Amino acid sequence: MNIKRKILWGGATASSQYEGGYNLGGKGLDTQDCRPYLKRTSNATTSTRLLTQDIIDEAKSCKEIGNYPFRQGSDGYHHIDEDIQLLKELGIDIYRFSISWARLYPHGDEEMPNEEGIRFYDHIFKKVHQAGMKIFLTMNHYAVPLYLVETYGGWTNNILVDFYLRFAKTVFEHWGEYIDYYLPFNEINAGYFSPYNGVGLVKEKDRPYDQSLVFQSLHHQFVASAKVIELGHKISSQSQSGCMVACFCYYPLTPRPEDNLKAVRDEQIHQWFAVDVLANGYYPSYMNRFFQENKINIIITEEERKLLRDNTCDFVSFSYYSSAVATVEESSEQTAGNLVVSTKNPYLKASDWGWQIDPIGLRIMLNKMYDRTRKPVFISENGFGAHDKFEEDGSIHDQYRIDYLNQHFQQIDEAIRDGVDVIGYIMWGIIDIVSAGSCEMEKRYGVIYVDGDNEGKGSYQRYKKDSFAWYQNYIKQYKNN
Ligand code: BG6
Repeated sequence: MNIKRKILWGGATASSQYEGGYNLGGKGLDTQDCRPYLKRTSNATTSTRLLTQDIIDEAKSCKEIGNYPFRQGSDGYHHIDEDIQLLKELGIDIYRFSISWARLYPHGDEEMPNEEGIRFYDHIFKKVHQAGMKIFLTMNHYAVPLYLVETYGGWTNNILVDFYLRFAKTVFEHWGEYIDYYLPFNEINAGYFSPYNGVGLVKEKDRPYDQSLVFQSLHHQFVASAKVIELGHKISSQSQSGCMVACFCYYPLTPRPEDNLKAVRDEQIHQWFAVDVLANGYYPSYMNRFFQENKINIIITEEERKLLRDNTCDFVSFSYYSSAVATVEESSEQTAGNLVVSTKNPYLKASDWGWQIDPIGLRIMLNKMYDRTRKPVFISENGFGAHDKFEEDGSIHDQYRIDYLNQHFQQIDEAIRDGVDVIGYIMWGIIDIVSAGSCEMEKRYGVIYVDGDNEGKGSYQRYKKDSFAWYQNYIKQYKNN
């Protein structure tokens, strides 16, 4: 008999997109604080990913919030108590948030953490716990202390593994008892698709990224991840360790074998980071071929291979926003998506940002992920980024978001009935936050509206959208069934 297990319902934010207070409480400057807002010219995400040293130098000399949306975020720094109260009222089981590395270690290489940073997070962990929510912690969600990037070359340098481990140890020692689930890194594959965000790699002007450096940096993150898990199992043994990738479900554009092979390959290149290395503990053979054919040279020691084998994660997780289409056809029509562009699927509608809406793709992804790892699966991110209209009476009617959530929830239910061991679902950007890809505040995901605009202007007051009551009611009914 198929006994249906109850899953956890949650919501997420990330420190760099939510907190603001970039120069308060002793926080150091990090990579996200230096990303300027650029007006979009199309529905694709902007080119701010390609950060070069001159853009960073300009950012460093600017002390204002002005053009740098991540410096303001959703002003969570000044609204944290109110926000936790709202999340409690919403009734979610679990809150996913991240710690700003540069708030705990302003430069990243200090011996001791910043006491104000400790107090700041101490307050958050305790408040969330008192509010009765479980905690899903992302230790590092993109932001790297800028000092580490400029002094040591970011994750290209394996000394970052040691600095990162010191940071992780501080986190476990102070708050391990509150952590239910954790990820050493958000979307470990981001380093490949977006090297500045993922591994803190500054782009050289007029030259493509050096792929050997990108993969060496990723390897250092794998090692760091395994070491954090080893440490977590020792000093915070009740916390479950995870890994995460940004996922797409790839469909071939036609039944041509070449298109299908392309779909398989594209999906592998998204997933091997977490599925093969972090969940199963080894570099897959197809990546060895990829490295050879692309003349990518990285150093991996036997000791590191053993470390990866011995410290695989307890659960797997992924972000899912849309599916994608693969073809060998060069002239296919393209559309935007999280981290990558893909061929357009004529059967799907898309968001205003061109991200295609495909709830069934989520069910397929859950099945595939579970089949490949046989580990419990957490949907660590999913949601709908849209323009929301703020009415004069303070209401926001976001039926499109409700529809998106409802359709995806139905497919999670189907996947559970397929036999997938789903732990929980975390809605992305539960409180409106600055978009990681496009640096805009107007790409809103939340059930809680934040009155701020792309240029950091506004009251930053919070309002409940229609989706707030819908999600609240959904969770209530789910628990009663
Ligand atoms: C994920 C990231 O890739 O996608 C989040 O983990 C991000 O940080 C989310 O916000 C949605 O992407 P975007 O570009 O719409 O903010």
